[in-house]
Amino acid sequence: MKKLALPLALAFALSVTLAAAAFAADGKALYVKCAGCHGADGAKTALGNKSLKGLSADTIAQALAGYKAKTFGGAKKAMMEGQAAKLSDADMKALADYISKL
Ligand code: HEC
Repeated sequence: MKKLALPLALAFALSVTLAAAAFAADGKALYVKCAGCHGADGAKTALGNKSLKGLSADTIAQALAGYKAKTFGGAKKAMMEGQAAKLSDADMKALADYISKL
């Protein structure tokens, strides 16, 4: 049994490394910054923002790109422009995919 432990530990370490590389733009990790305002499930609307829950990935990605470009938004868009300014295209796609599945 002892002989199995090392290969297993190595296989585990390798798979963790590969997973980290494959999900460089990790929607779940990125969404941690959004959850305070939008809620862990995207349904929080306390700030007058609409629920993100149920939106398609395309709608979310377009909204984020629009906030970043300052061509989209409502009365409270300044809050989102600050958030979106820091996001790369890959970040926005990862977030849109993640949020659309909440
Ligand atoms: C400080 C609070 C706050 C944070 C943090 C925040 N948001 Fe928002 N979000 C808002 C508000 C307020 C609105 C409505 C803005 C407006 O009037 O256009 C909004 C709107 C949106 C919309 C548009 C929804 C629609 O139906 O048009 C999306 C998409 C969105 N946020 C995604 C995100 C993502 C992704 C993050 C994290 C990177 C994030 N938000 C972080 C407050 C926040």
